[in-house]
Amino acid sequence: PVFDSYFYDEQAFNLHDTAYKPLKQAQAPATPLNIPPLLTPDKVDGDDVYYTVTAQAGATQLLPGEKTKTWGFNASMLGKTVVFERGKTYHMHLVNHLPEVTTFHWHGLEIPGPIEDGGCHAPVYPGEARDVTFKIIQPAATAWLHAHPCPETAYQVWQGLATMAIIHDQEEASLPLPHTYGVDDLPLILQDRNFHAGNQFDYRADYDPDGVQGDTAVINATVNPYFDVTTQRLRLRILNGSNRREYRLHFSDDLTFTQIGSDLSFLPHPVKLKKLMTTCAERQEIVVDFAGYQPGDTVTLYSDDSPLVEFRIHEFTPAGEELPTTLTKIDYPTPDPSLPVKQVVMSGMDETVMIDGKKFQMDRIDYTMPMGKCQLWDITNTNDMNGGMIHPFHMHGCAFEIVSRNGQEPYPFEHGLNDTVAVNPGEHVIIKVYFQVPGVFMYHCHIIEHEDGGMMAQLKVVDPAAPDREYHLLNHM
Ligand code: C2O
Ligand code: CU
Ligand code: CU
Repeated sequence: PVFDSYFYDEQAFNLHDTAYKPLKQAQAPATPLNIPPLLTPDKVDGDDVYYTVTAQAGATQLLPGEKTKTWGFNASMLGKTVVFERGKTYHMHLVNHLPEVTTFHWHGLEIPGPIEDGGCHAPVYPGEARDVTFKIIQPAATAWLHAHPCPETAYQVWQGLATMAIIHDQEEASLPLPHTYGVDDLPLILQDRNFHAGNQFDYRADYDPDGVQGDTAVINATVNPYFDVTTQRLRLRILNGSNRREYRLHFSDDLTFTQIGSDLSFLPHPVKLKKLMTTCAERQEIVVDFAGYQPGDTVTLYSDDSPLVEFRIHEFTPAGEELPTTLTKIDYPTPDPSLPVKQVVMSGMDETVMIDGKKFQMDRIDYTMPMGKCQLWDITNTNDMNGGMIHPFHMHGCAFEIVSRNGQEPYPFEHGLNDTVAVNPGEHVIIKVYFQVPGVFMYHCHIIEHEDGGMMAQLKVVDPAAPDREYHLLNHM
């Protein structure tokens, strides 16, 4: 089947607590899509790889005229793409050249917390650096790195501190999929920004406690991008890197595309779609096939009726093999009967957002669960005021599996592993949670202003085989 629905609660999208802001067409010339360069290791020593990631300030040509003052990781905005391989150990030298404290959060990596994970307990002060080491134990996926200083995450991400992290493994390498970074395997980081006097961002002026939206789409730090297609198939690693905005994606000509991956794995079987809605922090890998097009044709990716990227078709040789009909097998552990179902309630709007009736507190552990045991979590969104809004629920440090939505089957593209799941107003989403690593981890709504506003809690994952350890939790940054 080809699915022709966004699946989510479109009413909630349209109303969005009455504050939805549509995108408008930018007054800027067509510009080649920025392809973030790959970060090169400082050193490789067998299975040990050394990287330096520097948070820095710079200026980016986003609009004609003045450059915009922006922040990035090893770049003026967003960053270089970090590549990991399953089974290797990474030694990360994390440097802060910004005028304020920041952190380096590896969103989607199954690495210990809270220090390696890089949330608010792992600050790096201006002019300082931090070294962390972790091993990549998870399958091929698209993850990302973003700043996570509480409660300044939203501001710092808006300034540009977000970049893609790609995990490779042998299973992925053996699949007949596009594999050439920047040619037929592309990051597509979707963001939106407002431009103020002199082409500058002004986060404080735009502030909205329900999440800041911009009226201009900025894709991979490019306004009005186009991409020259030289292969029949293109694999797009979509990352919704926006503070608040969801995107309702579709192509011109109602072109059918194939979703092959979710946040943290391939889908067991590819899913054919005409429409795809993506909420904050989610990733979707899709393959677009241009077989029906001629050199000189263009295909546009839209969100609603706003163009995001124009694909300009050039001469290409036909792709050989068909896409595989099976991509992976998900063998998620079964829930441990001794563990109760953990309830999580996301409630409120604006300043009143909470998890389980509480606001986030850095030095409070809200829940404890064992490592190496699977537990069901039942996530509810009770915010149905003014039509409500969708809350994308995210957990650090694990890959979860979506079991049901209001007792029904999950959506057809939800059979892979995820770290973020969008919960509609009034909905119960049940997930299976299993941690392979110990530590203190956050879970929260990934509308970043909600997270900064306290719709966030902390989980301690205990290794039953190790003595209980005390974590040094900061109470401010
Ligand atoms: Cu994208 Cu708390 O994370
Ligand atoms: Cu995260
Ligand atoms: Cu939220």
